[in-house]
Amino acid sequence: TCAPVIALDGPTASGKGTVALRVAAVLGWHVLDSGAIYRLAALTVMNHDVVLTDLTRISDLAREMRIHFEQGRILLDGVDVTSSIRHENVGNLASELAKEPVLRQGLLERQRAFRTWPGLVADGRDMGTVVFPDAPLKIFLLADVDARAHRRYRQLVEKGESADYEIILADLKARDERDMNRLVAPLKPAEDAYVIDSSALTVEQTVERVLALWRQCP
Ligand code: C5P
Repeated sequence: TCAPVIALDGPTASGKGTVALRVAAVLGWHVLDSGAIYRLAALTVMNHDVVLTDLTRISDLAREMRIHFEQGRILLDGVDVTSSIRHENVGNLASELAKEPVLRQGLLERQRAFRTWPGLVADGRDMGTVVFPDAPLKIFLLADVDARAHRRYRQLVEKGESADYEIILADLKARDERDMNRLVAPLKPAEDAYVIDSSALTVEQTVERVLALWRQCP
């Protein structure tokens, strides 16, 4: 039988990455940061001087890129790209490329390969709807756009980076718009997902809710 999966989907900056890591740490499970896979595909495209309309080439590159996740570090073809994949331009290209069915198809098996014992917490946009439709627990983590913009703003300020709240807010809205309105695997809760609104919850409270749902899972 397959290892269990908790599918954790939601919009940008909803806190699902942090929640996924904490839930996985408590359960002793693996984590899939599927957004990082799309970002790695974007970085690969940027490194290869490809025309953005050559989707076959892009999909081939994404199938073939050599990626490693180890102790919080991410390697692409042997190079540490942990911080470079977080750049805004990489995120924007990832979200553009993510509209393309051939690319999504090319990344499907790679994502499913993370499903190993004792279990997987999978963080993304379509974990419950497309990648792991048979996941025994699906969570859709919401937070209103202002709460998410504030979180992102504080993160940047804490890192000592410059941050403009209005730009962050506009950027989140644009990304939401793209992710929710694309034709293939749009961001939306699976029919059998539990929706958690974390706007007024701390990370700890959100983690507790997810774990409580898992404990109740038949
Ligand atoms: O979550 P993150 O911001 O790292 O994801 C980058 C982009 O990758 C998102 O804006 C989204 O368009 C895309 N993505 C996706 N499906 C996923 C994860 C991410 O389309 N499962």
